[in-house]
Amino acid sequence: MSNLIITGGSRLCGIIEVPGAKNSVLPVLAATLLNKGTSILENCPELDDVTTMLEILGALGCSIRRKGSRIEVDASKLAASSIPEELAKKMRSSIIILGSLLARCGEVLVSYPGGCEIGLRPIDMHLKALMQMGAQIDGISDGMLRCRAEKLTGCEILLDYPSVGATENIMLAASLAEGETIIQNAAKEPEIDDLQAFLRKMGVKVSGAGTGVIRIQGIHEIKTEPVHRIIPDRIVAGTYLAATAATGGSLVITGVEYDHVGSVLYCLKRCGCRIRNYSGNVIALESSGKLSALDLVRTSPYPGFPTDMQPQLVALLSKCKGTSVVVETVFENRFRYTEQLMKLGADISIQGRAAIIRGTDRLKAAQLEARDLRGGAALVIGALSAEGTSSISGVGYIDRGYERMEKVLSSIGADIKRVET
Ligand code: UD1
Repeated sequence: MSNLIITGGSRLCGIIEVPGAKNSVLPVLAATLLNKGTSILENCPELDDVTTMLEILGALGCSIRRKGSRIEVDASKLAASSIPEELAKKMRSSIIILGSLLARCGEVLVSYPGGCEIGLRPIDMHLKALMQMGAQIDGISDGMLRCRAEKLTGCEILLDYPSVGATENIMLAASLAEGETIIQNAAKEPEIDDLQAFLRKMGVKVSGAGTGVIRIQGIHEIKTEPVHRIIPDRIVAGTYLAATAATGGSLVITGVEYDHVGSVLYCLKRCGCRIRNYSGNVIALESSGKLSALDLVRTSPYPGFPTDMQPQLVALLSKCKGTSVVVETVFENRFRYTEQLMKLGADISIQGRAAIIRGTDRLKAAQLEARDLRGGAALVIGALSAEGTSSISGVGYIDRGYERMEKVLSSIGADIKRVET
């Protein structure tokens, strides 16, 4: 176990290259299960969740080679169709494997997934869609599910909400189903587009990612050698931009997709940051440190303001002059980290799904505890812009989504170190 020790007050300044997206590599890794050949993925982030996913694939019989950001998965010899419980519980994204594995093996045994403590996170939409495609799902003891399908058949599915995970699971199951599947009200996140790009490289006829209606024409068998580069992580990019804004610094981010961070840049500009975009994938931010509040920001599915950036934005707004209101519409329990930010002196009150933030120009160091991934990132931003030396425990949560955060932040001038406890 480790803690981050952060002495606030340094202006962040420098250049950062954004790694591949966690939320993209996980479903793409799940998609490699559909392939009886070897899939090669580049630009994969080196994160604990990726390691957990590879352990799951390994336990299912895949052979894996990982060197730096390159991963090769040979899923020609699947030997098992049950996802080890201790691994499934570690990571909610393990449920993404359900669609692929069911399509490939016809039977899956899985426990209800784990993940961050940010809400109930049910999987009813995933299960309902798979049942529409012909799967039979039985709950067996202790939160275990058994899914069986002699054959999956394409059909039209209307999602009640544009769930990212449910959209991905259906795309995966539909790739080996008989006939066409049409997903109405599909999620439009860039990670869905990336999954579509990978499935196409494996020969699946899929179209519509990003539009809300996705069509997948299933194929009988996939045996290819796709090479795919994972898209940049828009949330990591947004997090470092918000940290720089809060400390009054200037940052150049490379390898980022400008459009993917559009709503985040919009808010940062409205706070008073100067943003420039060079050639589509380089963004420069300058902040005077004297920023203003945002009257109202609501999180919503892409291209709205991402829920995964909500805590980092609230941390920034804690230092912005005036009163801001941030409404969380995606997850019902995503303000727990605000108690910790308040230890730094942030003035935040929660009313139902809204956080009301009264900006202060002085935050003071404190002992903090991260309890979820993005909430943890918000604490880092708070500590970077507070006077004095703070310590943050629960760093394991932060490591799930950020590669060596302390090294990246040190490289742009932060006073931050990791100590083993
Ligand atoms: C993904 C992201 C996560 C991000 C979220 C929303 C990954 C690995 N994780 O999570 O970082 O915060 O999208 O952008 O990509 N819901 C149901 N029933 C379901 C499925 C979802 O009620 O069957 C609800 C959830 O509780 C939540 C909302 O739908 O309130 C959105 O969830 P969803 O889009 O599915 O998020 P994830 O795929 O879990």
